[in-house]
Amino acid sequence: MILDPRLEVFATHRTVRQYKAQPLETGHLEQLLFCAQHAPTDATAQMYSFIRLSDPALKARVAKITNNPHIETAAEAFIVCADVNRLQALLELKGYAFGDWSAVAVHFGIGDAVLAAHTMLVAAECLGYQGCWIGGVLGALEEIVTLCELPIGVLPFAGLTIGVPDESPEQRPRIQPELVLHENSYRLPSAAELEEALNRMASITARGDWAQTLSRYFAQGGTMEAREVVLQKVLEQQGFSHVSSDLNALMARAKKAGFPTILVRPTDTGFQAWIEQAGLAHGGEGVSAVAALEEAVQTAEQSLKASI
Ligand SMILES: Cc1cc2nc3c(=O)[nH]c(=O)nc-3n(C[C@H](O)[C@H](O)[C@H](O)COP(=O)(O)O)c2cc1C
Repeated sequence: MILDPRLEVFATHRTVRQYKAQPLETGHLEQLLFCAQHAPTDATAQMYSFIRLSDPALKARVAKITNNPHIETAAEAFIVCADVNRLQALLELKGYAFGDWSAVAVHFGIGDAVLAAHTMLVAAECLGYQGCWIGGVLGALEEIVTLCELPIGVLPFAGLTIGVPDESPEQRPRIQPELVLHENSYRLPSAAELEEALNRMASITARGDWAQTLSRYFAQGGTMEAREVVLQKVLEQQGFSHVSSDLNALMARAKKAGFPTILVRPTDTGFQAWIEQAGLAHGGEGVSAVAALEEAVQTAEQSLKASI
């Protein structure tokens, strides 16, 4: 395929992890931020923030805990965050109660954050810099929240480094375009196409085995399972998981009503919940586990009231 010369910057993209000990040119950081801020943003809400790591000690610490040493040597390093804290403050300043939409906040907050930060990276590449996204942030999420003093409503997505490149790796391969572009409806890949994808990607791995590399991250026992536990905890801590807070609150209500045993199970149409004490149980059904448990707890609370 011949790339239109106007798209040349995309042919220059490489993730770079070795940087010269040189800062960005004067004025470039402001220009990169201008580009980032002019990425499209859902409902003009700009649900993201960047934490610029300019304190050398903080950079060094984040480099260590994310296992990405180049954070320390890059001219610029950022923690890219989904952010609905500022949006909530804006609304509350004018007397509006903030809505209950924590899953949507994850969806749009991360969407906005990625669009802005990747626009910044592409802009940096246009100026001759290179960079690296850092998902290693997920491996140190709780400490990063503490180190960067992130309030509720702010969730780190990843890190991003930008600097003057001191290595020039080959452009890394991608799977065949037919697997990522679907025509009107989703087309499942054939086994032969999957084999071809593995072959295309083999060269980026030391052993020529991309599946094995992927397995270290995504298979059973891989790093993502460990990250899942921490992410769920931090999602809740940062206010991005009302579902689990609702569940916790309902369980506390059931216990207070004298029903310490709780059973929830999926059915063909939704969920069923039972709360039990010796010889007595109340049930509920709903489209979600929360709705089913809510019904069971309400029934228990009503019968408790009636019996007083
Ligand atoms: C969300 C995200 C997280 C990433 N995390 C890391 C990381 O923690 N460390 C790292 O060295 N590279 C990281 N990368 C860079 C990828 O490894 C890189 O983009 C991929 O190997 C493809 O190489 P290329 O960007 O040079 O085409 C990340 C990339 C993305 C998009």
